[in-house]
Amino acid sequence: MTEHALASGSPANPDPATSHETIVVLDFGSQYSMLIARRIRELNTYCELLPWHTPRESLAGHDLKGIILSGGPNSVYDEGAPRAPEWVFEAGVPVLGICYGMQLLAHQLGGRVGPSLEREYGPARIELLAEIPLFAGLPRELDVWMSHGDRIEEVPPGFQVAARSANSPIAVMADPARGYYGLQFHPEVVHTPLGKEVLRNFLERVCGCSRSWTPGNFVEEAVAAIRSQVGDGRVICALSGGVDSAVTAALVHRAVGDRLTCIFVDNGLLRAGEAEEVVETFGRTMRMNLVHVDARDEFLAALAEVTNPETKRVRVGNTFIRVFEREARKIEGARFLAQGTLYPDVIESAGHGAGSATIKTHHNVGGLPPDMQLELVEPLRYLFKDEVRRIGETLGVPEEILWRHPFPGPGLAIRIMGEVTPEKLAILRLADKIVVDEVRAAGWYRKLWQAFAVLTNTRTVGVMGDYRTYGYAVAVRAVVADDAMTADWARLPYDLLGRIANRIVNEVPDVNRVVYDITSKPPGTIEWE
Ligand code: XMP
Repeated sequence: MTEHALASGSPANPDPATSHETIVVLDFGSQYSMLIARRIRELNTYCELLPWHTPRESLAGHDLKGIILSGGPNSVYDEGAPRAPEWVFEAGVPVLGICYGMQLLAHQLGGRVGPSLEREYGPARIELLAEIPLFAGLPRELDVWMSHGDRIEEVPPGFQVAARSANSPIAVMADPARGYYGLQFHPEVVHTPLGKEVLRNFLERVCGCSRSWTPGNFVEEAVAAIRSQVGDGRVICALSGGVDSAVTAALVHRAVGDRLTCIFVDNGLLRAGEAEEVVETFGRTMRMNLVHVDARDEFLAALAEVTNPETKRVRVGNTFIRVFEREARKIEGARFLAQGTLYPDVIESAGHGAGSATIKTHHNVGGLPPDMQLELVEPLRYLFKDEVRRIGETLGVPEEILWRHPFPGPGLAIRIMGEVTPEKLAILRLADKIVVDEVRAAGWYRKLWQAFAVLTNTRTVGVMGDYRTYGYAVAVRAVVADDAMTADWARLPYDLLGRIANRIVNEVPDVNRVVYDITSKPPGTIEWE
């Protein structure tokens, strides 16, 4: 699986870098590296994020227009600190160094870097000292975001000092003749309001990019590539109801039509109305071949008496593979498996930075037995999530699916504390629907990363009319996040929380108390189990 997922250049996954103007970001470990690549893509230019030690041969055939050296946690004087490979300076294309990347330019090209007396972190203002293409059309003073310890003390031969800040006499350095630039600040973060203009200038004025990478031409190319990989073969695709598998299926469907069969496994752990929606959307509206497998009992049986969260995950995962395999074998002549692997998964598995990361196994149908010999079709493996959504729009995937909050593979099983039973599932589904409906109605849905209900294993005393009750406590969780690595609890308005709580205790049988989770991540996780 991992081998397949990493193999690029197979017919269905032609590297867009060979057919589009490409910017390469070499990753030196900054938390913002991926953001740089996203910003470049938002500026309609194809961009790849590669480990800093990438050999030149890996770029053979690329239409390389420029290189960006990212920031990173090191000091250029650290023992074994990563360096820009020599080919970067032999490639004959412009180079933009950001933060650590700038220090590398200075250090490797003959300038001098030293420790800053004060670490500069957070907002700062720079003043431009020279007219350079990188800052064309921008004001002489810019608000920027800094985050660095070291600073440049002497620019290398050929460079000029182009801007300074209160703490950095050399905040920007430039060698316009070679197209080499160094920025001490981060143009890719939102806290540098005109950062995108700086990047736009780099692409247009420095690298001469035409900025023609769009969702429309991506779809055309992907369709052609899928057709050439699959020939007249049959493809299967596991639909989960989430964005990635939905867009993958829509794209493959556009390419091969009826030779795609989607398998939707109803594991009984989905949210209210979800199974019906998948069948309606993909089966009826988009007219795909859809196998709807009702495996609810099989999953429930596998979860009987299980209370440990990790055991729940393993049981759900294994059951999924068993059910999916059984159904896939029924589809005669299927040789291909379409999968919604995204670029961040590919980056993660490519082992940037120090320790090597493993590919996410959460959702992937990675455990299919080798004797099935399915070849992977991964048309989204070069895309970020926001690009996937834009392509989904182009393909007519409904908005509710494209903007749906992430939902864990093990579903409601890890939102029910303790044993999963049909009764508890029914309670949680009702409560969860109230949370989501109210959040949507209040206009908060798109502002949140996730919002959902959790069924705790605690019963508490309450009073309803003249009766005492002894019912479940439901927890409401709503978080804001840019990615799921960190998150903060959402400051939902009190009246929205009030309406949610009211409706849950009034409408959901056996629940008499609602609490709101105000834990951030870390130290909490987003899910309760
Ligand atoms: P945590 O709870 O670790 O969640 O803060 C981070 C993100 O991952 C999702 N999540 C999962 N997704 N299988 C999945 O497919 C899982 O087992 C799983 N556990 C957590 C979670 O919903 C959040 O978006």
